[in-house]
Amino acid sequence: MSAQIVARNLSFAHGPEVVLADVSLTVASGHRIGVVGPNGVGKSTLLRLLVGDLEPERGTVALVPADARVGHLTQELDVRAGETIADVIARRTGADMAQRELDASMRAMAAGDADAADRYSAALETWLHLGVADLDATMAETLERVGLGADRADQPAATLSGGERARVNLASVLLAGFDLLALDEPTNDLDLAGLALLEHFLVHSPAGFVLISHDRAFLERVVTSVVEIDEHARTATRYDGGWQAYLDARAAARRHAEEAFAGYVETRDNLRGQAQQTREWSAKGIGKVKRSGETDKFIRHWNKASSEKLAGKAARAEKALERLDVVDKPWEGWDLRLDFATTGRSGDEVVSLRDVVVDHGAGFTLGPVTLDIGYGERVALVGPNGSGKTTTFYAVAGLVTP
Ligand SMILES: Nc1ncnc2c1ncn2[C@@H]1O[C@H](COP(=O)(O)OP(=O)(O)OP(=O)(O)O)[C@@H](O)[C@H]1O
Ligand SMILES: [Mg+2]
Repeated sequence: MSAQIVARNLSFAHGPEVVLADVSLTVASGHRIGVVGPNGVGKSTLLRLLVGDLEPERGTVALVPADARVGHLTQELDVRAGETIADVIARRTGADMAQRELDASMRAMAAGDADAADRYSAALETWLHLGVADLDATMAETLERVGLGADRADQPAATLSGGERARVNLASVLLAGFDLLALDEPTNDLDLAGLALLEHFLVHSPAGFVLISHDRAFLERVVTSVVEIDEHARTATRYDGGWQAYLDARAAARRHAEEAFAGYVETRDNLRGQAQQTREWSAKGIGKVKRSGETDKFIRHWNKASSEKLAGKAARAEKALERLDVVDKPWEGWDLRLDFATTGRSGDEVVSLRDVVVDHGAGFTLGPVTLDIGYGERVALVGPNGSGKTTTFYAVAGLVTP
């Protein structure tokens, strides 16, 4: 169904720390909105406000129509103790809740509750919409589609690798049939095949999406507008027309801000210089008149008057300086920069693994792996999700015993 979330003038704080101030945003069917901003600026918080997981301190969030189905894919796949992959998917798609509500409403009907019939028909509609009856079959198919394998539904979820978790997340998104969906960094941990699948889904689904990502290439291919949260003002600005339009608008805004600041600095410095100079001249002039011993009253008067005129000019420059609208220096922006400490050279050969085998015990064995990395080499470790990249990394760092 066609749906929208309309958020108006949202403000939110964690204790004394203001996270978002006066943010308005509409997410509707067909929208693909990318949310960007530095770490900790409030992107996840904004999504939680939009889906109703948090209450704003000020402002409103309205869902139209009220029974539209809104999904929320959190930044981390939360796995609860003892859950299998199927349990996690049933929970995240809402299928388990739909089943429980259907059972409860049937019990209420049997007990003869007055409003049980309405409750049952609402529960049945959700249950049918979610396809809970065929969930086992569609789940197997979807697990295969996301590259996890059809037979893994009963595997414990706690032992999954980062990328495999991301794929479980992806499977729940594909299965759920939400009208509107908030995705918190869905690209994290996905390999190229997973990214392609997610991209295809987002671009072809009629639903509306608001998604956070730090993957520029992905955003460039997927989003139709960009919302940037400003670290200083705590507001959100929406740029329509895709990623490039956002970059262009941002560059233009920055150019304007720099020009405005340069203009302000020039005027301010001119006025300051003028005020200072004329004050000095005027003070000197008055002193000179006093010391000059000039006896002609008119010349004395004229000299004094011109010094006073200078003082008036200085006062006017000072006044203008006071009235000048201050333009703040544009701040540097939030492009990600990382600094790594440098250390002394350790040796020619930095890493040496010989026929290393790591057995995780849960059906996954890495190796044998042989790997040599010399000083100054930069090696990229690539491979599909679940193939053992992190385990190899641990072996290199000495965090697992072969
Ligand atoms: N439960 C909480 N209690 C107090 N402060 C919190 C809580 N959750 C988040 N914050 C703070 O709120 C701010 C916004 O957090 P949020 O998770 O929305 O950031 P983000 O933009 O999603 O960052 P990232 O890119 O790292 O995911 C941060 O300063 C964070 O430390
Ligand atoms: Mg976040």
